Amino acid sequence: MRVPFLDLKIQYDSIRSEIAEAVTRVLDSTQYILGPEVTRFEDDFAREHDAAHCIATNNGTSALHLALWALGIKKGDEVILPVNTFIATAEAVLLAGATPIFVDHDEYYGIDPEDVERRITRRTRAILPVHLYGQPAQMDAIAAIASRHGLLIVEDAAQAHLASLHGKSVGNWGAATCFSFYPGKNLGAYGEGGAVITNDVDLATRMRRLRDHGSEHKYTHVVAGHNYRLEALQGAILSTKLPHLRKWTDQRRANAECYNSLVKALPQVSVPRVREHAKHVYHLYVIQANDRDALKRYLEEKEIGVGLHYPTPLHMQPCFASLGYKEGAFPRAEKAAKRILSLPMYPELSEEQIEFVSKSIETFYQ
Ligand SMILES: Cc1ncc(COP(=O)(O)O)c(C=O)c1O
Repeated sequence: MRVPFLDLKIQYDSIRSEIAEAVTRVLDSTQYILGPEVTRFEDDFAREHDAAHCIATNNGTSALHLALWALGIKKGDEVILPVNTFIATAEAVLLAGATPIFVDHDEYYGIDPEDVERRITRRTRAILPVHLYGQPAQMDAIAAIASRHGLLIVEDAAQAHLASLHGKSVGNWGAATCFSFYPGKNLGAYGEGGAVITNDVDLATRMRRLRDHGSEHKYTHVVAGHNYRLEALQGAILSTKLPHLRKWTDQRRANAECYNSLVKALPQVSVPRVREHAKHVYHLYVIQANDRDALKRYLEEKEIGVGLHYPTPLHMQPCFASLGYKEGAFPRAEKAAKRILSLPMYPELSEEQIEFVSKSIETFYQ
């Protein structure tokens, strides 16, 4: 049995006619950038996250940069973020001109609030927690720290559409929250896409301006901005997919439960821990495993797709050498990077496939 890491085709096949209709609608309209299709998606996506405003962008990296930029983060500022994340989180801080300050993670892979507090300096302006793998970071503790020190919070929810903590959706803990609609994400475009949501109307206005060359009206540029606009085709595709997202999220959660029940008993493996009162949306299902590299090779030989998210914590990436971090600075992240393994995860994964993956892991250790 072949089990791909991700299968976008099954889902596309299930909504093929809806997508064809949306694409034809946009092509016929000849409005290809922003416009009513994008506005409709923005309204619906904000509503899904109990937020007031949504600004759709051309990808998640732009969304992060746009939020930091519009919040006035600039050269000389420090932004605290987890060391175990995709590089885009840190790149956005650099794009804003600020310095990324890395922090280790807690036992749920979220930014560790105690480490955050230790690294606050006079220059710290913002905390940028990442809801990694689809599980909300410890936002109650982080919000308390931010309020004590007068810091901004920007959430990176690129992997966490519809996730929540204490019943409060991601997108409501800080000034702004950023999403990616990269095709493999829980809500994926058929191309690039991203968004920022916020409850601050002034911030929303600033972000809308910066997204479109700083203009309020065509050829009147209030500030110098950028081109971070979403294409209408992606807006229409995302609007078509959004009504299915709750069902797809439930399927991911059921798949995670199924994996848990099958691999939990193996002493060589630990299954993902879920924070109390958190709704984990399982963008990724990440185990920790003894002899990880050999297990990875074994599963790949059996045509089971697996991944590493991420093999190298950011402080050990060559591009951040100038920040001066040394190996050993983030013991949890460094240890986890050697043990983590992402198993196949998508809504349409079948029980038979999950059983095959779990059985294969068991056989490897036998
Ligand atoms: C945690 C995280 N932040 C930011 C991004 C950037 O999103 P994009 O690839 O849409 O630019 C991603 C997506 O890969 C991500 O996983």
